[in-house]
Amino acid sequence: MSDDFHYYEPSAGHGLPHDPFNALVAPRPIGWISSVAADGTRNLAPYSFFNAFNYTPPIVGFASVGYKHSVANIEATGGFGWNLATRPLAEAMNESCRPVEAEVDEFELAGLTPTPSRHIAAPRVAESPVSFECRLSQILRLTGADGEATNSWMVFGEVVGVYIARHLLVDGIYDTAAAEPILRAGGPADYFEVSPNHRFQMHRPG
Ligand SMILES: Cc1cc2nc3c(=O)[nH]c(=O)nc-3n(C[C@H](O)[C@H](O)[C@H](O)COP(=O)(O)O)c2cc1C
Repeated sequence: MSDDFHYYEPSAGHGLPHDPFNALVAPRPIGWISSVAADGTRNLAPYSFFNAFNYTPPIVGFASVGYKHSVANIEATGGFGWNLATRPLAEAMNESCRPVEAEVDEFELAGLTPTPSRHIAAPRVAESPVSFECRLSQILRLTGADGEATNSWMVFGEVVGVYIARHLLVDGIYDTAAAEPILRAGGPADYFEVSPNHRFQMHRPG
C-alpha cells in the first residue's frame, strides 16, 4: 500500500483526530424534513443523509441515525415535507435540529411559519423558497454487509407536490444558485453555500 494514501478500515477505526467520513462524502444537500405526529404536533429537522433517487416517479429519501421523531411521525401519518435550506434560513435550520422532546414544535422553536400542504398532513416551511410534499413510499431499516440490523432507518417518499418561488424561475428555468442553497460539509460545523461563480457546465459525451 502506497504511503501516499492514508488507508483505513472503518471497523478498525480511522486513526485520525476526527472521523473524516462525512467530510469525504461532501458537501451534501440537506433534507429539511417537516412532519406531523398522529396527535397533530408539528416537527421539523435537518437530515444531511439525504438525496434524490428517482425521476419517475420522483423519489427522495433520508437516513435517520436512530429511530428519531421524524421517522415515527412519517410512519404514523404517511407523509413528509422537504424544504430547501438556504443561506438566509441557515440559523433557523440549525435551531430546528435541537434534541427536544416530541411535544416540542420546532417551527415555533426556530421562529418559522408552518403553512398547510395539499396532499399530506405535514406543513411546509413558508419561508423556504422550494418545498416538496412527499408521500411515504418505504421505510427500510439499514443492515450491514453481514445482514445485521443497524440502528438507522432510511425513509423514502414519492414527491407528489412541488412549490417553487416564482422569482427563482428565470424564463421558466429554475435558478439553483439564486436560491442560495446550503450544503453540509464535514466536521462539527462546516457548510458550503452555492453561488453562481462556482458553476461550471459539462455536457455528457455522445
Ligand atoms: C445539518 C444537519 C444535518 C443532520 N443530518 C442528520 C442525518 O442525516 N441523520 C440524522 O439522524 N440526524 C441528522 N442530524 C441531526 C438531527 O437533525 C437531530 O437529531 C434532530 O433532533 C432530529 O429531529 P427529530 O427527532 O425531530 O426527527 C443533522 C443535523 C444537522 C444540523
